[in-house]
Amino acid sequence: MLTRKRMLDMKKNNEKIAMVTAYDYPSAKIAEQAGVEMILVGDSLGMVVLGYDSTIPVTVDDMIHHGKAVVRGAQGTYVVVDMPFMSYHISLEDSLKNAMRIYQETQAQALKLEGAGGILPTIERMTEGGIPIVGHLGLTPQSVNVLGGYKVQGKQKEAAEQLLQDALAVERSGAIALVLECVPKELAALVTEQLTIPTIGIGAGASCDGQVLVYHDIMNYGVNRLPKFVRTYEDANRTFTGGIERYIKEVKTGDFPKESHTFTMDPSSLPDIKG
Ligand code: KIV
Ligand code: NA
Repeated sequence: MLTRKRMLDMKKNNEKIAMVTAYDYPSAKIAEQAGVEMILVGDSLGMVVLGYDSTIPVTVDDMIHHGKAVVRGAQGTYVVVDMPFMSYHISLEDSLKNAMRIYQETQAQALKLEGAGGILPTIERMTEGGIPIVGHLGLTPQSVNVLGGYKVQGKQKEAAEQLLQDALAVERSGAIALVLECVPKELAALVTEQLTIPTIGIGAGASCDGQVLVYHDIMNYGVNRLPKFVRTYEDANRTFTGGIERYIKEVKTGDFPKESHTFTMDPSSLPDIKG
């Protein structure tokens, strides 16, 4: 199991952190068996496994439901669970109660929050309460409609300066790591260099201390459109569709099931048919 200290050591030694999302028991088991350092139960589950068109409909209960399954599947891996849309904005008290529920009920290792500004005291209070927090800056999908779409963040001088200041403030508030999403590689490199905590990039170039990708994107599993920053390592759509197609065919032809898939009995024990 990854520790806070090991994370910082990895950054110092330039050992990259590999993180992947998982949303259920089998994906968590596979991620753990493959040997990732960190698993993220991302609120991307809203799109990837629940079929919503953004992360906005995802609830605290959704995150707990999926988070528990992932932790059951990956008992030896560092699991981070996203706090979903507006669950850490209404009041500090509500935010802490939601964080406490997600953290206690899932038994995950850390929670992740998007943003800086008004979120900084929230990160500080959660950390003070004993919940390790991962920050998330750049493209923050819960704010997609404020940002005006899924696009690269921090390209202009002013926005770049703001992002650097936000990253430093997130670190000062006690965050243990920072996700940078859709940030130009030059800015991500500068932020990575300026921070003591590791940066985990997604669409943020190779200089980040680690990388995170969505499980279903890596596997090309059930996704239609892949963002520019994704590399696909398998083709689950093809493999899985092919498997189901062969199953259908064998059901229709009677090639499945075979004797080996079948139970038998002594025919003399069959009920007598009267008349
Ligand atoms: O929800 C998610 O999958 C994420 C990653 C893209 C960082 O937040
Ligand atoms: Na997320």
